Amino acid sequence: MKPILMGSDHAGFPLKNLLMEALTSEGTPVLDVGCGDETSCDYPVFARELCERILSGQASRGILICGTGIGMSIAANRYHGIRAALCTTEFHARMSRAHNDSNVLIIGGRVTGSELALAILKVWMSTPFEGERHQRRIDLIEGC
Ligand code: RB5
Repeated sequence: MKPILMGSDHAGFPLKNLLMEALTSEGTPVLDVGCGDETSCDYPVFARELCERILSGQASRGILICGTGIGMSIAANRYHGIRAALCTTEFHARMSRAHNDSNVLIIGGRVTGSELALAILKVWMSTPFEGERHQRRIDLIEGC
């Protein structure tokens, strides 16, 4: 089973740890691509590390966390084949999977509280892509 990749900057580090604990406690393998502590660092470095691993096939999905989620979102969506969804509600998480086949979940560590983040994670992990007309739209994005 491929791991769920996890990446953050310093502002997302505490929430990343919480979500990693939640995933590992239920038996989901995770791989942390950094950062490793709350020392100030640059979110694009970790967005790149995570996205390149997904695009190389090491993993199918990942989670990125920075302070607002916006920087990680901008950075991750520069990579062709990455569909990164900044989610602030469970509805966003559900629809990003069902309609957009999001392969990266982004949460703002300074925006979204722990309980809501855990709920978003649970929905994102368990919602399948619906395909059909939504696949056609993704193909248009990807240039297929
Ligand atoms: C770091 O201070 C902060 O700018 C970063 O975590 C993120 O919110 C950027 O979009």
